[in-house]
Amino acid sequence: MTDRPASEPETSRLSETLVVRRLVCGLWQVADLEKDGGTLDLDSAADALQAYADAGFDTFDMADHYGSAELIAGRLLARYPTGAKRPLAFTKWCPEPGPMTADAVRRGVAERLERLGVDKVDLLQFHWWTFEHPAWLDALHEMAELRREGLIGEIGVTNFDAAHLAVALADGVPIVSNQVSFSLVDRRAAGDLAALCGRTGVKLLAYGTLCGGFLSDKWLGQKEPAEIADWSRQKYKRFIETTGGWVAFQGILAAAGDIARKHNVSISNVATRWVLEHEAVAAAIIGARLGENEHRTDNLQVFGFSLDAEDRDRLNAAFTATRPVPGDCGDEYRRPPYLTASGDLSHHLQAIPSIHKPEPMPGRPDRTRVSSGSVWEELAGYSRAIRVKDTIRVSGTTATHGADRCVAPGDPGAQATYILDKIAAAIRALGGTMEDVVRTRIYLRDVTHWEPVSRAHGRAFAAMRPANTLIEAGNLVGDYLVEIEAEAVID
Ligand SMILES: NC(=O)c1ccc[n+]([C@@H]2O[C@H](COP(=O)([O-])OP(=O)(O)OC[C@H]3O[C@@H](n4cnc5c(N)ncnc54)[C@H](OP(=O)(O)O)[C@@H]3O)[C@@H](O)[C@H]2O)c1
Repeated sequence: MTDRPASEPETSRLSETLVVRRLVCGLWQVADLEKDGGTLDLDSAADALQAYADAGFDTFDMADHYGSAELIAGRLLARYPTGAKRPLAFTKWCPEPGPMTADAVRRGVAERLERLGVDKVDLLQFHWWTFEHPAWLDALHEMAELRREGLIGEIGVTNFDAAHLAVALADGVPIVSNQVSFSLVDRRAAGDLAALCGRTGVKLLAYGTLCGGFLSDKWLGQKEPAEIADWSRQKYKRFIETTGGWVAFQGILAAAGDIARKHNVSISNVATRWVLEHEAVAAAIIGARLGENEHRTDNLQVFGFSLDAEDRDRLNAAFTATRPVPGDCGDEYRRPPYLTASGDLSHHLQAIPSIHKPEPMPGRPDRTRVSSGSVWEELAGYSRAIRVKDTIRVSGTTATHGADRCVAPGDPGAQATYILDKIAAAIRALGGTMEDVVRTRIYLRDVTHWEPVSRAHGRAFAAMRPANTLIEAGNLVGDYLVEIEAEAVID
């Protein structure tokens, strides 16, 4: 730490081979600039990226759905001779849930390589819409295979909550980073996710750090905007509304403003510095509206000061007038309150095909059942779940993936998370929801595992609190450490 502005952004290590700038240039804004149907001129836009890279902002973040962003980055990378040090281009792959064959993953990765014009994606970040569809683990394991082949440098995820990141890690996927919303307004990542990062070494890439630009001097003391044209601010306006509204937000801006004056920096610097000072955070991704505005000189000031205890107290006091964003990281894409640019995504989530096909039962018109395809169901003659009139009973469910693979061997909490997703999927396929669950039973191989399993159960059922029994079973088949059964009544 120096007391002078740095000449270029500091760096942080994501893995043995991957060192990133602590300020990453974010390119979602390209999609916004192109939303009326036009596309940016690739060469001029690459010139704009070149200016970032030349100033040391040479790590870029994009995704498969950020308009021409990958193509623009590809133009930039093509300017560097083979073998020369070149900027880093991080992208994301956000497939629709469905069967995840090796071919489907390879096609997704090949498209990224082609659009970027590279032999290896520096960091490929995976997004998945609903964990009730278990193909996300297949996709991540296939990505790990492609990493071994050299097509992917490192694997990241985006918008994963702590529980599902823990499942992936316990299942052996070599994940180095999780890209999540993290700001003075959205402080979820400082909770369970940061604690998991501390235990595992996974790093956070923070976005929304400036709330689309709302966390800046420009908005201090301003009236609440009635109309917002750009997607980024539309999205973070929802965060502001959910966390207590414009007045509470002005309280955060005022606190950041006082601190900014004290250090002779901008409000945006204070907002970014607060995020970067969390141990788990490798970098903040700051969005760039190419060809419109750039804030490089101002943003470099984040490396010239640090927050002291008085600053943190001032911010904490402002936080008390706000509400936390509900749930854990990434929930804004999966459940209400949906906090995305387009708002409510429930229609999209409902359109995702279920993993289960409900089967009618011959001669019993009031009954339907689902099977999850595990070898045990066929062998022992039972269903994953069965609906009789308005009641759904879910069999004792273990963390079996596909026919017979135990997920997250050795990690009871991760197994419980995986099991509860399976239970949710079975109940949904039969017309119910987790809100309909009235009874659960948990069987543990070792009762000393009660806490991580109970916490997973608490995350799934905190609001409904079904009747529950916890039993030490002494032994469970194979590597299974926990088994859970459930009963739901649809009113
Ligand atoms: N994984 C995901 O689901 C996800 C979701 C969202 C974003 N992201 C990533 O994160 C990136 C960041 O985007 P974001 O939408 O979250 O926006 P953001 O970084 O919170 O805000 C970016 C905006 O802040 C303003 N700004 C930047 N530096 C400033 C400074 N020093 N002073 C004043 N204003 C400043 C600029 O607005 P003006 O141009 O108007 O001045 C800029 O467009 C995206 O590009 C994308 O790469 C990922």
